[in-house]
Amino acid sequence: GNKNINAKLVLLGDVGAGKSSLVLRFVKGQFIEFQESTIGAAFFSQTLAVNDATVKFEIWDTAGQERYHSLAPMYYRGAAAAIIVYDITNQASFERAKKWVQELQAQGNPNMVMALAGNKADLLDAKKVEAEAISLQSSALNEKLTEIRGKWWIRLTEAQAYAQEHGLFFMETSAKTAANVNDVFYEIAKRLPRV
Ligand code: GTP
Ligand code: MG
Repeated sequence: GNKNINAKLVLLGDVGAGKSSLVLRFVKGQFIEFQESTIGAAFFSQTLAVNDATVKFEIWDTAGQERYHSLAPMYYRGAAAAIIVYDITNQASFERAKKWVQELQAQGNPNMVMALAGNKADLLDAKKVEAEAISLQSSALNEKLTEIRGKWWIRLTEAQAYAQEHGLFFMETSAKTAANVNDVFYEIAKRLPRV
């Protein structure tokens, strides 16, 4: 039969990683280029149907600024799911994401479904980078692009390995183009325990 599930979900991650943008994309189908930094936290809800259940997500979009760190446990306590977000063009945000995973694994609900989202995938689209390099025909630029692609590849494989090792699932997302955004929530919905 079809089940109704209520699931508290929290987004955590560095300032500017794109937490609010992912939520805005998922809940309203919109993207704002100049999204304001979150103060405290914001609440949203959205319902998603998967094959055997209807999941109502109660979403807490937390603030990434360090001064709000002490509030985080209020939002992740009792949460059924978490999305830990980093910006794929920002190494420090990946390091911050790992700290969040550590904190959740030490203090969160042990059955929490956790997703790692490498956001802003649109900024380092391999095909786009390739096309630009070909059109510009500049060897210096080509070198630069090869270097960027190399770093991106390292980060991608590093994130995949990290997620696997720590029992999270991993996706690269773009709140801007909507790539993989619904998919992250859908994947969480599928993994939530059916009571
Ligand atoms: P805090 O609330 O300060 O913790 O930040 P946040 O994680 O909520 O980030 P937010 O959603 O406010 O996004 C920060 C900036 O990045 C905004 O200017 C967004 O428009 C931009 N941004 C977010 N997601 C993407 C994305 O997928 N691609 C691109 N190109 N920009 C993005
Ligand atoms: Mg925000």
